[in-house]
Amino acid sequence: MVDLPGQYRKIKNEIDMAMNSVIESGAFINGPQVRSFRENLQSYLNAGHAVTCGNGTDALQIALMALDLEPGDEIITTPFTFIATVEAIALLGLRPVFADVCPRCCNLDAKAVEKAVTPKTRVILPVHLYGQCANMDGIMEIANRHHLYVVEDAAQSLGSEYTFENGLVKKSGTIGHIGCTSFFPSKNLGCFGDGGAMLTNNPDLASKMQAITHHGSRVKYYHDMVGVNSRLDTLQAAILDVKLKYLDRYNQARISAAGFYDEALAGIDGLITPERMSRSTHIFHAYTVRTRAGYRDRLRNFLSERGIPTMVYYPLPMHLQKGYSGYGYREGDFPVAEELCSTVLSLPMHTELKEDQLGHICTAVHDFFKNNTK
Ligand SMILES: Cc1ncc(COP(=O)(O)O)c(C=O)c1O
Repeated sequence: MVDLPGQYRKIKNEIDMAMNSVIESGAFINGPQVRSFRENLQSYLNAGHAVTCGNGTDALQIALMALDLEPGDEIITTPFTFIATVEAIALLGLRPVFADVCPRCCNLDAKAVEKAVTPKTRVILPVHLYGQCANMDGIMEIANRHHLYVVEDAAQSLGSEYTFENGLVKKSGTIGHIGCTSFFPSKNLGCFGDGGAMLTNNPDLASKMQAITHHGSRVKYYHDMVGVNSRLDTLQAAILDVKLKYLDRYNQARISAAGFYDEALAGIDGLITPERMSRSTHIFHAYTVRTRAGYRDRLRNFLSERGIPTMVYYPLPMHLQKGYSGYGYREGDFPVAEELCSTVLSLPMHTELKEDQLGHICTAVHDFFKNNTK
């Protein structure tokens, strides 16, 4: 699914030098590389402020902590995401309110969001799943009309761009009040362990989030608010600062691999390749196809027998997760998300894929459908 050693080998000298300079300096916590990376990330994204933290899950939690929400306040989000999105909400005693997703882009459906708004709603939390932005024209309009915050989960979409109806172009993670991202190794911008960041154009929110990451403190040993301990290690920052220069190239490599898949898999009866939405670029954190009902697991086994790994992102929607049953949702509440969970399959996608590998994967997919659809 990923080839991190292959990616590392191409920039080994630069990375090794960056890591060695941290090791030799001994400044493992809050060394100068953290600030350098933060500033470079801000300018890459054209964001007012970036605040780094320990991982993408913390980023979501810290973002929500900064908004002065009350227990029981409602956060509208997608049931078709990684658990971290919902976990951060639940951990803070807030209430996740799900809205169904659009079957074509797998992201929050703005019409469903509108219907989910109640007097207790405070935040809309869209996830830009697989590397493509949700309908931010629709979501921002609803948020503005109801005076709600928008916190973007941009863990899978760093570098993708959204073009608003009025022509304004923004990078994902910089559209709402706060954007959260992850530098988990397999992410489009991945470090060699855990890392995350919050992005915002609001200086007060930035200062508050910065304090929260550091035990709620702005002045050492004085704690203005309840915080957490969530830092981006200097070593990870040094690695990310090198890799950030390559992010557009990495995303381009993913887009090219996706183009190969699109062409080679077009027209297979029983398989739908990922749709591109007109307003967002897609940076293919994952290349996720959909199969005819009942075929996904058979295709997955068939590919596995030929040595081709695949992943199901995600097999069970959030509203049906056992740990979250207390919110009272039932099977059938979000039919699109439920259907996607049983039909999506992500094929290998990373920056180092070669045409012969892609060809081998696509031939195997064709062979499966030739043998199984008659
Ligand atoms: C959509 C989404 N949100 C949040 C996260 C959490 O990021 P992390 O693993 O860095 O905590 C991930 C990462 O897996 C993710 O895919």
